[in-house]
Amino acid sequence: MKEYNLTTKMRSCQWDELTEEQREVVRIAKEQTENSYSPYSHFRVGAAAKLANGIVMRGANQENAAYPSGLCAERTALFAAGAQYPDQPVVRLAIACYTDGHFTKEPGSPCGACRQVMVETEHRYGDKMEVLLYGEDETFVFESAADLLPLIFVSENLKG
Ligand code: THU
Repeated sequence: MKEYNLTTKMRSCQWDELTEEQREVVRIAKEQTENSYSPYSHFRVGAAAKLANGIVMRGANQENAAYPSGLCAERTALFAAGAQYPDQPVVRLAIACYTDGHFTKEPGSPCGACRQVMVETEHRYGDKMEVLLYGEDETFVFESAADLLPLIFVSENLKG
């Protein structure tokens, strides 16, 4: 038997340690929490996806009385980007979470399905997508979505 330790490469940044490009998407993700439709969880998530052409696609979680019919903020932004600008790589994605009257202190943590979609987005365009998870106390920065999902499943895996 072999045992492996998988490591995740990430940075924890304070606001003044982020670049202006990074702050731009974080600011928009924070604004986007206002567009969350979350009458069931009251957990507002905003997302901002910066495309190579400079456009920022905006997302927010959209819930539904039939719970599984809702969608996370990240996927609303990434799917809208794919649907409207299919030829534009996503260079950067930020998310922010707001509940109980304030942004979360801890960085938001994307669910497994969103991580899978992030990795597909990155793979689709053949380049890294930077991911920023905002929290009031610190922002986590991942150079690549793949860093959020070890042992990724991508198109090559379908070939056996
Ligand atoms: N949610 C997101 O929008 N993104 C995530 O990465 C985690 C969870 C949403 C889904 C649901 O509307 C609410 O947060 C509570 O789970």
